[in-house]
Amino acid sequence: MTQQLLGTLWGVGVGPGDPELITVKAARLLAQSPVVAFPAGRGGHPGIAQKIIADRLRPEQIQLPLYFPYVQATADLAAAWVTAAETVWQPLMQGQDVVFATEGDASFYSTFTYLSQTLQRLHPEVRVETVAGVCSPLAAAAVLGHPLTILQQRLMVLPALYAIADLEAALDQADVVVLMKVASVYAEVWPILERRHLLDHSAVVVRASQETERVYPTLTEHPTLELPYFSVLIIHCR
Ligand SMILES: C[S@@+](CC[C@H](N)C(=O)[O-])C[C@H]1O[C@@H](n2cnc3c(N)ncnc32)[C@H](O)[C@@H]1O
Repeated sequence: MTQQLLGTLWGVGVGPGDPELITVKAARLLAQSPVVAFPAGRGGHPGIAQKIIADRLRPEQIQLPLYFPYVQATADLAAAWVTAAETVWQPLMQGQDVVFATEGDASFYSTFTYLSQTLQRLHPEVRVETVAGVCSPLAAAAVLGHPLTILQQRLMVLPALYAIADLEAALDQADVVVLMKVASVYAEVWPILERRHLLDHSAVVVRASQETERVYPTLTEHPTLELPYFSVLIIHCR
């Protein structure tokens, strides 16, 4: 009996929102793959990666929305990753490739990591490939028209702010600090930037490269801001 060849799971970064910021390789894989997976949206709305690739999908491609809950409980998260991994395993074990489309880059704070690691734990024989995409700090720097880093500048990225001391330490050590997931902590961050005279050297980009993009090139006038989840703060410390 011949052994069925397995499909490959491709983790494909589809960029920060502008469908033209998809790489040529991502576009080719999306066009060729019989199965395309992506994080499911919330409340009946498509997810961001799904929106970015919507015009590239063909009716005959199988679409697999995968559910990744926004919860802290590790048991709930682990259960969701196992369900997602087993969902993509079905076509993979039948020899079909699966492209998992993820917003931004697939290796930069991406759900793809959990999916691929869980799949490889459950099915070590599977082949997984990652395709780089444009990540949000780079998209935000392009929107601002300001280099993210030059010369010897040291860049520090904080994936989220769990303690204000982390920001103080980053501002002491780095030349440029990027704060992801800034929406929920903005009110605590602003006074620190004010005290350090950094408001004029700080910018927030909301939904970089998307149609609803918003830019705050300086924060002096904005002690409070209602920011959505897709917001990033860039601080040029010196
Ligand atoms: C889980 S991380 C995903 C990062 C993504 N993989 C990337 O490469 O940028 C989510 C955070 O990324 C940032 N983000 C992602 N896309 C963004 C965009 N288009 N504009 C601004 N911030 C964005 C926000 O800070 C958001 O809270």
